[in-house]
Amino acid sequence: MGASSVNGASVKVRKCFISLLFEKPAHNPLLMKIIRKKNISSREIKNYWEDRTVTIKDLYYRDLNISFASQYLNKTQRVLDIGCGNGYNTVKYARHVKEIDGRDYSSRMIKSAKAKLKRSKLRNLSFDTGNVLDFSPAKKYDVVIAERLLVNLQTFDQQKQAIKNIHSWLKAKGLYLMAEASFQGHDKLDELRNTFGLPKVKKHWHNLYIDEVGIAPFLKKHFKIVKIQRFGMYNFISKIIHPLLVNPAEPRFDAKINKIAMQIAEKIPNFQDASHHVIYVLRKK
Ligand SMILES: C[S@@+](CC[C@H](N)C(=O)[O-])C[C@H]1O[C@@H](n2cnc3c(N)ncnc32)[C@H](O)[C@@H]1O
Repeated sequence: MGASSVNGASVKVRKCFISLLFEKPAHNPLLMKIIRKKNISSREIKNYWEDRTVTIKDLYYRDLNISFASQYLNKTQRVLDIGCGNGYNTVKYARHVKEIDGRDYSSRMIKSAKAKLKRSKLRNLSFDTGNVLDFSPAKKYDVVIAERLLVNLQTFDQQKQAIKNIHSWLKAKGLYLMAEASFQGHDKLDELRNTFGLPKVKKHWHNLYIDEVGIAPFLKKHFKIVKIQRFGMYNFISKIIHPLLVNPAEPRFDAKINKIAMQIAEKIPNFQDASHHVIYVLRKK
């Protein structure tokens, strides 16, 4: 090996260390691989979802998400809720639309969703198993809703494949409501928490958060971005004021202050972009 290639290799190693130390995780695929537990298999993630019937613990955030998404729904639309989980949101959306199909790859979730359907007596709603990476619906949809779904995939390529699939299931100019957690939102929230001496928000071991910067050109190629909604106000109150208030006790998701945070966020949703949750309203190009 010549001196110049040895130098080249050492420069690469140095660059790699520097980027590991100083770049934000979302901008560094290598660091992201390290942060996310290594070699999580699709089976491990599937088993996780086959083992439970509860999806999101933050109930007030869930309600904010539902009321925001519902603004884009109407009685003429056929809707798909992919990765619908136990069907809690799907049942709520069913009241706004002509018909809605809930699909999820966890048979346990679908069983729980079907039980909800029976209790609700709704007739415009169906639940069945389906994998976003391997699903061919018999019809096209006016709206596809996918909430906290992409973060359960293993790689960025799979996330892109899922988005491509969703695009192909939509009618011309159909809407994709994409509610996910993002690296950039996490970083902003953590920075703000750090200012007040609070630790970073815990990341779920199996989640691969959306890289909003990396995914932007891909999204823009296939969709017109109608709106990007963050709920920084909800997080500022529930993830900063609330923990400071109850310290050293752990904040509870069902605390009254979180309900107040939800009510304020309905009127003033954003605050410093400090929200790990982000909802994209995308119109098919
Ligand atoms: C965090 S839960 C969200 C459920 C629901 N969308 C909500 O917001 O309450 C994620 C759901 O995605 C499902 N899921 C994960 N990977 C999937 C895939 N490849 N295809 C279909 N569903 C999937 C899981 O089984 C789980 O029910």
